[in-house]
Amino acid sequence: MTASLTQPIGRLRLGINIDHVATVRNARGGSYPDPLRAALLAEQAGADGITAHLREDRRHITDTDIDGLVEGLNVPLNFEMAATDEMQAIALRHKPHAVCIVPEKRQELTTEGGLEVARQENKLAHFIAPLREAGCRVSIFIAADKPQIDAAFRIGAPVIELHTGAYCDYHAEGRFDKRDAELERLRDMTRYATDLGLEVHAGHGLTYETVKPIAAFPEVMELNIGHFLIGEAIFSGLDSAVRRMRALMDEARNEAFGTGVA
Ligand code: PXP
Repeated sequence: MTASLTQPIGRLRLGINIDHVATVRNARGGSYPDPLRAALLAEQAGADGITAHLREDRRHITDTDIDGLVEGLNVPLNFEMAATDEMQAIALRHKPHAVCIVPEKRQELTTEGGLEVARQENKLAHFIAPLREAGCRVSIFIAADKPQIDAAFRIGAPVIELHTGAYCDYHAEGRFDKRDAELERLRDMTRYATDLGLEVHAGHGLTYETVKPIAAFPEVMELNIGHFLIGEAIFSGLDSAVRRMRALMDEARNEAFGTGVA
């Protein structure tokens, strides 16, 4: 494959989501294992950023975790949150490097779909304005759909994150035609959004098996990966899991665009 970009292909950033370190901790209600410790280890292994989702029900990450991450991280924090007044106030207090707006339902096991931007443009435009004014890089987590991308653009979001969950699910289920169609859609929509001037990130459900085709999109700037790597850490350690994911991302870019990718 050849790059369609006129710009040199940049280094793809890796954000590590540490929510599920907190899930394990909360299973016993104590303070071990500590998500900040995992975040610092991930940093040492090459993470370019740390992502944490403070959910309304605090099922994994807590307010105290966010305080600790803001205080202790050496790489940028990507603060994932729903578009609620409570979360906006927390984000404005901490002013993290990035804020990713996600949909949230109480009953879901994980963030099931992308945010419905098109039907709440006005509300979201007003919601993100103070965050942007505070200097946070706002990203909107959406499905790879043109109407959602257009709406994200219109509300003034500088960044979108495309939901890769369906692509990963089809792969895991062995439904490869559907997986490939979803991959094509993600590729087309990454290009489309980049042409609009949006920065494109991607994530959800990515594994060693599914990461390379996404990492090979020349326009994608950042991947956010959590659950699989925290699971892998049980078997190989977090350092090794993060390094392997990083190596696969670099391999994908080098295979697609030749060596010397920055
Ligand atoms: N990006 C966003 C916006 C997410 O909500 C999540 C899950 O919290 C991820 C990436 C990471 O997904 P996973 O934990 O499945 O790798």
